[in-house]
Amino acid sequence: MTSTTELLLQPSRVASPVDAPALRWGILGPGWIAARFAEALRHHTSQKIAAVASRNTERAAAFAADWEIPFVHSRYDELVARTDVDVVYIATPHTLHFEHAALALEAGKHVVVEKPLALNAHQARGIAELARFKGLFAMEAMWSAFLPKFDVIDQILSHGMLGEIGTVMADHGEYFDADHRIYDPTLAGGPLLDLGTYVVYFAQKALGQPVDLTAVGQQANSELNGQISAILTSPTGAHAVLNTTILADTPNLGAICGTAGMLRTEGVFYRPGDFTVSLRDGRSARFVDDISGYPAGLAYEAAEAARRIAGGQLESPSRTMADTVSNLETLDELRRLLGIEFPS
Ligand SMILES: NC(=O)c1ccc[n+]([C@@H]2O[C@H](COP(=O)([O-])OP(=O)(O)OC[C@H]3O[C@@H](n4cnc5c(N)ncnc54)[C@H](OP(=O)(O)O)[C@@H]3O)[C@@H](O)[C@H]2O)c1
Repeated sequence: MTSTTELLLQPSRVASPVDAPALRWGILGPGWIAARFAEALRHHTSQKIAAVASRNTERAAAFAADWEIPFVHSRYDELVARTDVDVVYIATPHTLHFEHAALALEAGKHVVVEKPLALNAHQARGIAELARFKGLFAMEAMWSAFLPKFDVIDQILSHGMLGEIGTVMADHGEYFDADHRIYDPTLAGGPLLDLGTYVVYFAQKALGQPVDLTAVGQQANSELNGQISAILTSPTGAHAVLNTTILADTPNLGAICGTAGMLRTEGVFYRPGDFTVSLRDGRSARFVDDISGYPAGLAYEAAEAARRIAGGQLESPSRTMADTVSNLETLDELRRLLGIEFPS
């Protein structure tokens, strides 16, 4: 929905998630995000959850009871072997995404893998190649990319409404207690992969892949990076000024600024929510979102995957494997600049 003062924004072209063909999903790793994804599927789509797998049978059984899932497995390989599962949603920690995506693809299953798709661009290319080789669908669950809000932003950018983009700003800061998995170096903790992937997504949407990066980091403790501030320079010389931290809550806002005007989010930039466009000629418009955040926003990624899989496509044009690899290349470079090491 759009409310305008003079300036007209194109409506979103994203269809309702409820209308997507109903596929049978298997869930690997019934943790925090998997619960929100299951709730999104149950209440905001026509998708079916056929089975869930956990390393712990009781955890899987409790999850299955919460979301009325008929089959429970205590081994991930058992779930991917099921003949009544069309697509596997992988919600394990990112250190395991490559292994679990490969497990599902080798078993002949389409995959939707939580963000970040993998630990690095090399692993992401491996998943993309294996999916292509097997003739299977693969997609990173970068949920922002499938939201109506970002379809409207895409149209604003492709129509050049903001003029030549010179500056992008985005921050994603969330305070975590030290017992959260994000503090675990063996799970590739720190803000870079969990949170930084979103600010890089936002920057690259407006500016493409950077040609130059600078960054400074702050340690959370002796073993773990806790905060990153970075400037990405585009081929045209434009700047993206980005911050991500696990040491404090930050406004989580995004802005895209050009010679003709500015777009700024009114709330957390990567979630559903309103944004305003203000042009230098005095016109302005506000995009008013119909959806709130979790879990409804996660329905769009599931519906997109279901539509593409049902249509025989191997990727989503809203989040191609090339987009994902490009995002991880930037994260790799930030990691190199800051000397951040992940488990091999
Ligand atoms: N899209 C979003 O908004 C969003 C939000 C949060 C997180 N995420 C992403 O989703 C993924 C999972 O995050 P989460 O916060 O849901 O994590 P979580 O609550 O810790 O859940 C991860 C699950 O992975 C399974 N697992 C398998 N091997 C594991 C191991 N060696 N160590 C720990 N867990 C293991 C566990 O399930 P079992 O032990 O039961 O098998 C656990 O429930 C991450 O990649 C994260 O970046 C996305």
